[in-house]
Amino acid sequence: MKKVVILISGRGSNMQAILDARLPLTVAAVISNDSSAAGLEFARASGVATRVVDHRAYAERAAFDAALAAEIDEFKPELVVLAGFMRILTDGFVRRYAGRLINIHPSLLPVFPGLHTHRRALEAGVRVHGCTVHFVTPTLDHGPIIVQAAVPVAHDDTEDTLAQRVLAEEHRIYAQAVRWFCEDRLEIRDDGTVRLARAQDAVGALCSPACEA
Ligand code: GRF
Repeated sequence: MKKVVILISGRGSNMQAILDARLPLTVAAVISNDSSAAGLEFARASGVATRVVDHRAYAERAAFDAALAAEIDEFKPELVVLAGFMRILTDGFVRRYAGRLINIHPSLLPVFPGLHTHRRALEAGVRVHGCTVHFVTPTLDHGPIIVQAAVPVAHDDTEDTLAQRVLAEEHRIYAQAVRWFCEDRLEIRDDGTVRLARAQDAVGALCSPACEA
């Protein structure tokens, strides 16, 4: 079974979703840059090893990333999963884990990279929003896309209600993407797109607001 290390900074609900999905893999460790991250408690209670590498103890980003990589490498993971890990990683770190470092982002990339995606979606008036699981490359929130899920934006949505709707889909597609990786079904092609072996294409269209016949 493949070994996975999950990096978190806070709540850790995506990490929980991956643990709860009981995938055919071993979550070798959950590592946080913040000892007060709520998700650490859940990981411990689930019998998963936890580590903290506090970014505040390092004057430079590269030194923090080196310490983080040293912790990760102790567990010899085949896959490193960023699950709400709120640190920008250096190019060196990203290259070290090229092809085996994935992230979830709460928007339909390439729109709304960065922070406050739900607020920006509401401000832009988009009618469809969502989330993306992608391989990590040195450019922030910009790497080969593995899977996306779209949700409608309701006329009375607030940042919170929209975030909740998106988060439910994050939990679903992140566990799915991790499973695909561990089943060796993901291939990054030379053109930077991802091919999923034995994929079933989604059919039909989501219209939001629903269109009248
Ligand atoms: C999620 O919305 C994720 O997409 C974003 O940060 C949030 C983390 O939530 N990168 P959680 O810690 O997994 O609950």
